[in-house]
Amino acid sequence: MFVLDQCHYYTTESHYITAPLSIEEASFPLAYIMIIGHDFNTFERIFRTIYMPQNVYCIHLDKKATFNFKLAVGKLLECFPNAFITSKSEYITYGGISILRAELICMKELIASDVHWKYTINIGDHSFPLKTNKEIVQYLKALKGKNITPHLQSIQKSTERVKYVHTEHRTRTYSSVLKKHKKKSLPPNQLKIYFGSPYVALTRQFVHFVLFNKIAIELLHWSQDTYGPNEHYWITLNSIPGVPGSMVQGVSETSLTAVKWVFQENIHNGCHGHYWQDKCVYGPGDLEWLYNSSSMFASKFEFDKYPLTVECLELRVRERTLNQSEVQVELDWNFFPHYTYVLEDSTKEQQ
Ligand SMILES: *[C@@H]1O[C@H](CO)[C@@H](O)[C@H](O)[C@H]1NC(C)=O
Ligand SMILES: *[C@@H]1O[C@H](CO)[C@@H](O)[C@H](O)[C@H]1NC(C)=O
Repeated sequence: MFVLDQCHYYTTESHYITAPLSIEEASFPLAYIMIIGHDFNTFERIFRTIYMPQNVYCIHLDKKATFNFKLAVGKLLECFPNAFITSKSEYITYGGISILRAELICMKELIASDVHWKYTINIGDHSFPLKTNKEIVQYLKALKGKNITPHLQSIQKSTERVKYVHTEHRTRTYSSVLKKHKKKSLPPNQLKIYFGSPYVALTRQFVHFVLFNKIAIELLHWSQDTYGPNEHYWITLNSIPGVPGSMVQGVSETSLTAVKWVFQENIHNGCHGHYWQDKCVYGPGDLEWLYNSSSMFASKFEFDKYPLTVECLELRVRERTLNQSEVQVELDWNFFPHYTYVLEDSTKEQQ
């Protein structure tokens, strides 16, 4: 009997890109980190859009994710030799140290990977790329080895987060971070704590520093009982002079990930989807704003709530990706291969 190669079928039918599209991209591999725990449909779309065969993808699955979710992600990633699920996993708590721990698990495994990636990007579980892989590579190359740990300029970040002890509490179905009345000690090594975006792009050398340097390890230890440590850990380390790729001045948030914050409506003229945890979940009415954005990524997207937003954006990124390709584009890489084919044929007939 004929045995169907399910993965081949899946990648072809889903129009995955199966070869590097330029020498520039092939020689500048990226390492993506994703911490996910639910919403498989959104994950599948994000993964397909950021997927390139020369890159490497580390996926951390929340320990409390359902069996079916873990199974679905496992079955998808089985088809890609350059994507893997971490060998260890954390229970993820919003605002807790667990997200940072999960990211560090990924970084350790990424450093050991065969792919000699240049930058790692921790794309949020509901972030979507606005730019092509080539554009992201060119943006990162222009940084000349600097890390991007964006400032959150207009947000009042409460220093209470690092002044008082916070602890993660977990039941079987619910987890949260609670503030205690106990004050924390001062940060180690007299570090000045900065607050920024949790979404960053870090060089390989910086990741080495994070994993093995005493200053970084001591800051991690001190940060364990703070609130939202992933919003101060990267930017604080990246502000230390002499650290590989450090950027003492910092960069604005919008350069990497665009967000419509609820308290910035005077700047972005409102959200056409709905707000969730102060951030806009984009509806189709936000597409023009997203198309105009110069950021590499945007947050947040939910495929099941606003499928049109994700599909329009995905199509746009794919069209630009194929247009920028320096290798022969395969028919299956088009989302509408037959449509394109017929269109080309009919023009020929007219001539
Ligand atoms: C997008 O850019 C165009 C051209 O600069 C501008 O006219 C339009 O108002 C922008 N739209 C949004 C939603 O920002
Ligand atoms: C494709 O690329 C050409 C030349 O680089 C450009 O003029 C054209 O607008 C692009 N088309 C799309 C759909 O991006």
